[in-house]
Amino acid sequence: MLESFPVGGLAVVVGATGGIGGALLARLAGERSFRGVVGLSRGGAPPLDLTAEETIARAAAHLAGTGRELRLVVDATGFLHGGGLGPERSWRQLDPAHLAKAFAVNATGPALLMKHFLPLLPRDGKSVFATLSARVGSIGDNDLGGWYSYRAAKAALNQLVRTAAIELRRQRPTAVCVALHPGTVDTGLSAPFAKAGLDVQPAGRAAERLLRAIDRLAAEDSGGFFDHWGGRLPW
Ligand SMILES: NC(=O)c1ccc[n+]([C@@H]2O[C@H](COP(=O)([O-])OP(=O)(O)OC[C@H]3O[C@@H](n4cnc5c(N)ncnc54)[C@H](OP(=O)(O)O)[C@@H]3O)[C@@H](O)[C@H]2O)c1
Repeated sequence: MLESFPVGGLAVVVGATGGIGGALLARLAGERSFRGVVGLSRGGAPPLDLTAEETIARAAAHLAGTGRELRLVVDATGFLHGGGLGPERSWRQLDPAHLAKAFAVNATGPALLMKHFLPLLPRDGKSVFATLSARVGSIGDNDLGGWYSYRAAKAALNQLVRTAAIELRRQRPTAVCVALHPGTVDTGLSAPFAKAGLDVQPAGRAAERLLRAIDRLAAEDSGGFFDHWGGRLPW
């Protein structure tokens, strides 16, 4: 399915235990463009926990040690609910601990992935770092309100992607760094909120669409925010 990448490199999925991450890993395993496909997660080897930078540094060193060119990184981690926390309906529910957790996993963690993984991208030929953001992180598209911490953390993620892409372009002009919205996908993250009438995709279909969108990305798309159809989203 992926035809735009130089053949023989490495593809990596961070958050490989997640609904979308697992489906991405399965789809990438059958791709001839890559000589190796690696899934990283908290419980894997080496373990990668977004809230512990040293584990991210060790995972990056592990990838560098394979000697293969890192052509594709998809970050499919994220946090919306769990541990007694869920999306806020009102400012009355704003809670510093919830905001901190949402930012740690949805913004700071992916920023640290960029810090340690972007320097591993090759200096020529197509390479992509794509992080899964969410349309609800769009400020321009926010007409419904609610979901304060998730929206704000994803908006922060989008800004971090945009900023890193500008720095990346100076060093690696053929590399691409983007934020992607996967659509509504049938996973544990979305399950409590999937309403009738929403177009909920199985994770396998979302993975296929995301990979097709990634295949169409060119260097001039770096720093952008796209949906799973490859369309640009408003900031
Ligand atoms: N599903 C949707 O409808 C939808 C819509 C819009 C955007 N998204 C975005 O798409 C991405 C993937 O979502 P999903 O639906 O596949 O969610 P999911 O099934 O809940 O998967 C989330 C993944 O994030 C990982 N993770 C959480 N905290 C972590 C940490 N501290 N360190 C390392 N990994 C951590 C989880 O790992 P563990 O297994 O170790 O917990 C899991 O692999 C998220 O960014 C989400 O915001 C999803």
